[in-house]
Amino acid sequence: MKIISNVEELRLEIKKLNAQKDGTIGLVPTMGALHKGHLSLIEKARSENQIAIVSVFVNPTQFGPNEDYDKYPRTLEADAKLCENAGVDFLFAPKPADIYDEYYFQNKETTLICPPYEVVNKLCGKSRPGHFDGVCTIVAKLFNITKCNRAYFGQKDAQQLFIVQKMVKDLNFDIEIIACPIVREDDNLALSSRNTYLDEKARCEALNISKALFKAKELFDKGIKESAILVDTALAVMQNLDVEYTEIVSLDTFEKIDIIEKKALMLIAARVSSNGSTVRLIDNIEL
Ligand code: PAJ
Repeated sequence: MKIISNVEELRLEIKKLNAQKDGTIGLVPTMGALHKGHLSLIEKARSENQIAIVSVFVNPTQFGPNEDYDKYPRTLEADAKLCENAGVDFLFAPKPADIYDEYYFQNKETTLICPPYEVVNKLCGKSRPGHFDGVCTIVAKLFNITKCNRAYFGQKDAQQLFIVQKMVKDLNFDIEIIACPIVREDDNLALSSRNTYLDEKARCEALNISKALFKAKELFDKGIKESAILVDTALAVMQNLDVEYTEIVSLDTFEKIDIIEKKALMLIAARVSSNGSTVRLIDNIEL
């Protein structure tokens, strides 16, 4: 496995390897602090393509001014070992200056890809203005840099997955987006790099997020199709949490629905206090 930080070097190395292998390129974009959730994407990318690329980049343009950009876990050495063991060909780990130019650092502005307002101004996008512009921009840059044929995204970040799929369609990227299921701990906590922020008490409280989702799913499976009842059930389980949103949307359109008649998604974002600060966690379940 080659660890590369420079865009031109990566392009050259991909070209060289592709000349030998002449196959498809699979990309797994990440921000690092890799866990089994990321690894499931990486293994899928490895098994479906001749060339597997993982990017590790904590992308400044998707973090708001009061968010955790500075303290986001950076564990490149451990990430590299995991990628090497998973048979990855290239670990692309650029520095911000490899990705954004001088103009960006001086003016805090760059060319952005902005998904439609209706799609971003809800769920995570509502409390994180500009977040999905940053995500789409870095993902599009990574697509252009790697010229990948397939890119792998987790259903854990369901709104992100929906928005990336929309961007690919709207901008005619010739790339297949592969959606991968949520990987959970044995007690159902969804794996997340931000779980490293949780102290014991906070981790225990955070478990109520997945508990709420599973409880709502149980009721749904018993025949309750009214979103309001399912949302209230979930909220009752999360009384100890600072819930940002609990919503049920159509899987096809991401529009809020009152009665569930087609495939739907229940999504939750909640904050827990841990070590004197708050940690924002998200999770979802298909209904
Ligand atoms: P990051 O949070 O590192 O996640 C990278 C990918 O791993 C995303 O597609 C995410 O949905 C997936 N993932 C995270 N936890 C998962 C879990 N428990 N089960 C399955 N998949 C999981 O998402 C980002 O980075 C960034 O926004 C990025 C797309 C890299 C752009 O900067």
